Amino acid sequence: MTQPETLRWVGQTDGHLELLDQTCLPTQVVEIECLTVQEVWEAIRVLRVRGAPAIGIAAAYGVCLSLRPILETDPDSPQRWQSAMELAIKACDHLATSRPTAVNLFWALQRMRDAITEIQSTTTACGSSRDLAQRLLREACTIHEEDRQQCASIGRHGAQLLDDLPAGSGFLTHCNAGALATGGDGTALAVLYALAAQGKRPHVFADETRPLLQGARLTMWELAQRNIDATLLCDSMAAQVMREGRVRAVITGADRITNGGDTANKIGTYGLAVLARAHSLPFYIAAPTSTFDLTLDSGDDIPIEQRPAAEITTSFGCRTAPEKAQVYNPAFDVTPAELITAIITERGIIQPVTRESVSQLVAD
Ligand code: MRU
Repeated sequence: MTQPETLRWVGQTDGHLELLDQTCLPTQVVEIECLTVQEVWEAIRVLRVRGAPAIGIAAAYGVCLSLRPILETDPDSPQRWQSAMELAIKACDHLATSRPTAVNLFWALQRMRDAITEIQSTTTACGSSRDLAQRLLREACTIHEEDRQQCASIGRHGAQLLDDLPAGSGFLTHCNAGALATGGDGTALAVLYALAAQGKRPHVFADETRPLLQGARLTMWELAQRNIDATLLCDSMAAQVMREGRVRAVITGADRITNGGDTANKIGTYGLAVLARAHSLPFYIAAPTSTFDLTLDSGDDIPIEQRPAAEITTSFGCRTAPEKAQVYNPAFDVTPAELITAIITERGIIQPVTRESVSQLVAD
């Protein structure tokens, strides 16, 4: 079975963004059209599109949608040039408020801002909105294509790193760091797909990933599309599975990595790293270099998204806690660098994970 695309731009500059609505998986495969910046903002906010690289790409396409009203009426009018610029910048500002933790969102929006600045500085008097729209769409498509290629490289580097493990080895993963979370084949899952392509038959243990069940709903669905052997676990079962010797390594994605290697990822990841250390198992992070935030010295400085209490008390429409229960619902946690065996990037492997090795591989 071929997996529908996570996101794609349809048409030319006056086109639109199509998203696979991940809130409907695994029971329904629904594709939605986003025609406005606000629709993209909402899709990111409620996790119709999610995963660090994918929200960056969606936001970049979202900026392109800001020019749609002008393109429909006055694409070549020099009088509309200034308002076109303003609309695009306003879209960048607005989309940046959709989610706070994954740095890929801000990284992609910065690339769109740079494209706006570039066209502003190279246009002598008043340009046309059509030119700006073409430049923005070109940038968004490039971000998308680069991510596709980076996923493939992460897969190759990761499979090389894990080359010594016997065929049929078990791997524990958390949340969804696959094709549904990126513009390509994923990060952590790309490594496992690359192993599968080499005939290594990886067996994936997927944590269900409370409260929104990205592991159960999305990773298990994605692995089934690709005929990868997989077993679903409740989050609380990880320690037991490690103790029983069923997994040889833990591998997850990331939402933001500091200059010292501290890594924010889906809530529960930190606990897995602690458990992996207690069971002498390697703990790997797979992420593109766009997930690094070199301005941050410590994981404590990573903004952690707090999500609505209802995600825990009313799981998928069914009340699972008393009406007035107090709730704490951070969407991410931070794994300190010292618990991470290696970080697999598109440029190669960071091991050991130190400030020096991060800087060596990631700083341009
Ligand atoms: O809240 P989500 O579903 O956007 O969280 C996603 C994750 O934590 C992923 O592990 C991370 O973004 C890596 S995606 C390649």
